[in-house]
Amino acid sequence: MRTIGIALLTVSTLAVAANLNGTWRFEQTSNNGRKRITTYVFRVNGNTFTGDFANLSEHRDILNGVIDGNTITFDTKFEFDDQGRLTPFTGEITGEELSILPARAPQGKRPPQPTVVKRISNETAYVPPPEAAPHHKPLPPFKPIPPNGLALTPPMGWNSWNKFSSRIDDKTVREIADAMVTTGMRDAGYLYVNIDDTWEAERDANGVLQPNSKFPDMKALADYVHSKGLKLGIYSGPGYKTCAGYDASYLHEEQDAKTWAAWGIDYLKYDWCSASAVYHRDDMMPVYQKMALALRATGRPIIFSLCQYGWLNVREWGSAAGGNLWRTTGDISDNWDSMSRIGFAQNGREKYAGPGHWNDPDMLEIGNGGMTDSEYRVHMALWSILAAPLLAGNDVRVMTPAAREIMNNREVIAIDQDKLGKQGFRLRQDGDLEIWQKPLSDGVAVGLFNRSGAPAQMKIAWSEVGITAKNPKVRDLWEHKDIAAAADFTAEVPSHGVVMLKVTR
Ligand code: GLA
Repeated sequence: MRTIGIALLTVSTLAVAANLNGTWRFEQTSNNGRKRITTYVFRVNGNTFTGDFANLSEHRDILNGVIDGNTITFDTKFEFDDQGRLTPFTGEITGEELSILPARAPQGKRPPQPTVVKRISNETAYVPPPEAAPHHKPLPPFKPIPPNGLALTPPMGWNSWNKFSSRIDDKTVREIADAMVTTGMRDAGYLYVNIDDTWEAERDANGVLQPNSKFPDMKALADYVHSKGLKLGIYSGPGYKTCAGYDASYLHEEQDAKTWAAWGIDYLKYDWCSASAVYHRDDMMPVYQKMALALRATGRPIIFSLCQYGWLNVREWGSAAGGNLWRTTGDISDNWDSMSRIGFAQNGREKYAGPGHWNDPDMLEIGNGGMTDSEYRVHMALWSILAAPLLAGNDVRVMTPAAREIMNNREVIAIDQDKLGKQGFRLRQDGDLEIWQKPLSDGVAVGLFNRSGAPAQMKIAWSEVGITAKNPKVRDLWEHKDIAAAADFTAEVPSHGVVMLKVTR
């Protein structure tokens, strides 16, 4: 009896295993006409399996799959998560239908509804969804391309996302451009006025991407911004959809680059978002390069900003892919934890930055109200020591005097924009007290940062940053004062504060 039982169990396991193998799909069209397509691919081996999970915005690896009768369990791992975080799922197979549920119900929320997927084929390799497949051509192989000669110092300007999100339109962009002039921002170097996501409508019959009703005439807007001595930037991505769900540039790269050039666009932020649904991770370099080449083919100088949150060590190939800057992190928020966590984690990336190609720890939050003035000074000082792009993210029309003074501090801006183009790095750290330095063409910038909750005494000897002259010229860049010559310097640095100095050789 026992032998027969085991034999039956094995037979039933094998039978179910054979049934799971292949590609399964869930498709739904929502009320607003948007299609939701979720694909599961299972590769079965005995009573275990691996596979892929993909929808129009992400791709996950399926790991640790186990089949037990009609029940399956498995984990998914977001393909770019280098910390290996797993999300567990369970499923029930009923013939050609499979009902899948998260194994851990999210706390405090209604229990999730199962996703019911149907088998569509026995294919065990992930193939992008049906809309993509008929057009999908293999990408040209990746080949490092020379610099485009732009962004010899970190780009400076403004971007709509942090403050306005989807509430951005032609009128607001014009008013921001006006304010960039009247507040002195333009003359301090902030040149690019960049429209982020949510400007897009659908494509016309010829496939030309149209702006939506918030932006009635992009060419006229570009002309206006240019008439103010400023430049205009725009946003798209390599997938079907942008992060906010608008049409992106998939299969229309050359066409979109031409459209933007014809409008007079000077800067493109190109955001990965949903591209994992149609590309494999190994495609990321050629995907970015494709747009870089499309921009160059227009003949218009357009700064190319890569936004893929630092995945796949972009710092090592972003420049060769044609990028002038690349995000190194997820999105910043307007609070001390987010800003300081991102900013102080940039140490060690300095060797990848230089004239024409910059690490981008995300846009500024200065003036948005979530931090104290002292914390915003840390933001400005740290980003400048990092030779980071300085893209204001506030409502420039209604800046507080403090925000205006912080972002218009020309002595600090000069550190960011120093022509040597070296990204700074940490000299030493004692708990929450960090001293950073940035080599300059004529000396060294030094930041004494206090991340703790109480004021602290901080001391530095100039010999630590390689300045051996007896009486070097030292200047406090927030106080706008020279400091009496000596071999070292001690200051009380406020909590969540910075003392920023320039030591001239
Ligand atoms: C992503 C980017 C943000 C912003 C939004 C727009 O989250 O990282 O900077 O562009 O998309 O949808």
